[in-house]
Amino acid sequence: MHVDRTVQQRVAIIRFTSPPVNALSIANGLVAGLAAEIDQVNALENIDAIVLAGSAGTFSAGADIKEFDHDRSRLDVSRALFERVAASRYPVVAAIDGTCLGGGFELALACTWRVGTASARIGLPEVTLGLLPGGGGTQRLPRLIEPGAALDLMLTGTILDADKAARVGILDAIIAGDVIAGAIEWLQTSGAQPHREVSATSKIAAAVHARGDVRGVAQRAILACVEAAGTLPLAEGLAIEARLFDGLLDSPESLARRYAFAARRIAARPPLGVDGIAHPLQSVLILGAGTMGIGIATAMINAGIDTQLFDPLDGALDRGQRTIASTLEREVTKQRLSANERDVRLARLGMVTDLEAARPADLYIEAVFEDLSVKKDVFETLDRLAPEGALLASNTSTLNLDVIAGFTKRPADVVGLHFFSPANIMPLLEVVRGAKTSPATVATAMAFAKRIRKQGVVSGVCDGFIGNRMFEEYLRQSYFLLEEGALPQQIDQALERWGMAMGPCRVLDLAGQDIGWSVRKRRALEQPDRPYSRIPDMLCEMGRFGQKCGAGFYRYSNGRTAEPDPEIDALIVAHSAAIGVTRRAISEEEIVERCIYALINEGARILDEGIAYRPSDIDVVYLDGYGFPADRGGPMYEADRVGLPAVVSRMRAFAQLRQGWAWQPAPLLLELIEQRGNFSALNASA
Ligand code: 3HC
Ligand code: NAI
Repeated sequence: MHVDRTVQQRVAIIRFTSPPVNALSIANGLVAGLAAEIDQVNALENIDAIVLAGSAGTFSAGADIKEFDHDRSRLDVSRALFERVAASRYPVVAAIDGTCLGGGFELALACTWRVGTASARIGLPEVTLGLLPGGGGTQRLPRLIEPGAALDLMLTGTILDADKAARVGILDAIIAGDVIAGAIEWLQTSGAQPHREVSATSKIAAAVHARGDVRGVAQRAILACVEAAGTLPLAEGLAIEARLFDGLLDSPESLARRYAFAARRIAARPPLGVDGIAHPLQSVLILGAGTMGIGIATAMINAGIDTQLFDPLDGALDRGQRTIASTLEREVTKQRLSANERDVRLARLGMVTDLEAARPADLYIEAVFEDLSVKKDVFETLDRLAPEGALLASNTSTLNLDVIAGFTKRPADVVGLHFFSPANIMPLLEVVRGAKTSPATVATAMAFAKRIRKQGVVSGVCDGFIGNRMFEEYLRQSYFLLEEGALPQQIDQALERWGMAMGPCRVLDLAGQDIGWSVRKRRALEQPDRPYSRIPDMLCEMGRFGQKCGAGFYRYSNGRTAEPDPEIDALIVAHSAAIGVTRRAISEEEIVERCIYALINEGARILDEGIAYRPSDIDVVYLDGYGFPADRGGPMYEADRVGLPAVVSRMRAFAQLRQGWAWQPAPLLLELIEQRGNFSALNASA
């Protein structure tokens, strides 16, 4: 880390550097260094103002998150810095380039003014870590801008671009060119006066009241702080904020979210050894303009990548073009995208009718029918056409990547890129490493995931990879629960109350019941000793494929709203009778435990087989691909929280129930219990 000071035209410029993100670390002396500089400048004469700037395109990503786990009192050191800045004898302007988040933004809020370049990204994302802005943000922001807007930023963690930040009154000016030179010029020409508090007490109270029904502990604490901002002097509000922040640090929600923050970044760095060096990919050619191909193409052009789309089916490319254009148009209508940016993105998309004549690409993504003979044709063609060094990727969800790689003479360059639908929205990307995929190919695919703003997680080859393989066991339990006494709405409600974004029956209705049906047909042949309930098959036989046809587990008489259907309830009850099962009352607790512990058990097998590198990678898959509650950190984290002996003891109890065969505890779980270990210890050693 480095803090330096220069003086230009009676303006003291304090500039700080602490790679990679200028986190306000106490341990490395950055905060102390800044405080010392502020003191020293305040002792100088012949100064008119101070410019405070970060470096290398970053103002600051906020407090150093890693330090929260150690010495809590350290944050007081940052708070003292912010107070020094606020009390500075000379006015201070924060010159913001790039990210200005959390404590970084609170440092800027303690300044007299804030100016930023067009690349400034400003926000208070603490809530995403289960925290509140604990360095004055809850007190200063509602005093600076409209309190409702301030609250929304804190409650959602939304990050604003420079334009929006200026519009709401956070930025006093947008600087073109060098941020420091621009800040000095602005100081000398704007004639700006220090801000006066704009928020009347009643406005703050009204804003708090309007958002009174928030759920999370962090959100509730944010409301309490902002309420204090409306009724108490700044110093008292700051004291309340500090107390509530410190309390949140130990909350299970914040611990889980901070674990997930680290887990995502660790997942992005698979242990690939010295050969795992990524190379940049500039262009992509997607084969197949169906559901996935269209979504992937949209994700690519949104991320600034030169994209070609190929599909031999008559009309498929036209439909693809129309779908992509209308997706972007919706963004324009919602004012999330300018018309100009829409045009720029659409111009990145080229349609290919003759593959032989297509421009060579760095990456080819196959998203054709899930049929091995079609994939064979495609990969043989790619092997012939693609330039040397290009990556050949398959989006297959169930086929064996090693077999696909065998259709080429370059299996080292073949990788799975398993996108989730809708591919332009879902953040997860499973990067599938085949037996012969080279470390450089995996590294390149992971770097590409980051480039297209997806969370990459490496998975080995197995049916379903990490996510769908575990999900199959979760679904199997859901179906057995239906047979034993639960109804779809009861299962969904139990899991949704527990925190899942959507219960399994609603998920299946949304995804389409036919997808699972084809998997179950295959399983009946491959795994006759692992039966499923017939209930979902009966739905499919009735043509109830889910939301897309107005009926599945639920009825959809008005679009997307799932309405419990007495016909399905009766069908389920009759089915139980037909197979001789006496239905019983099933508690929410049993529903949750059976579904979640099924995930944990299969997750342990996946780890044992080396399909996932670490328990935390599995957690990331579930958080970013399956709507697992962020406050619970992921299934493997949840297993540790409950305690592995308790989890296995419940599994043994479930083994006594109907279909108890599904509850063989995974050997890894038993080993960990014997060694008094847990998944967290495995993470630490991975
Ligand atoms: N503290 C410590 N380390 C941080 C950090 C932080 N605030 N923010 C990022 N890092 C680390 C990451 O862990 C990663 O480390 P690694 O290289 O060892 O994996 C490295 O910086 C680069 O981060 P990313 O891979 O995420 O880089 P990106 O360029 O994709 O994103 C970012 C940069 C937008 C700054 C993103 O990292 C981010 O969102 N960071 C968190 C911001 C945040 O939540 N700030 C609030 C902190 S809490 C706070 O300030 C409390 C205050 O109110 C008192
Ligand atoms: P889809 O049936 O919607 O689209 C497939 C497209 O491929 C069709 O437009 C077809 O004309 C085209 N096609 C057929 N042969 C081709 C060839 N030789 N060259 C180029 N295009 C060809 O299928 P969908 O759902 O998009 O799935 C595609 C792949 O993605 C499958 O492997 C599937 O398993 C996988 N996948 C699907 C997910 C989903 O939710 N639908 C999720 C993740 C992966």
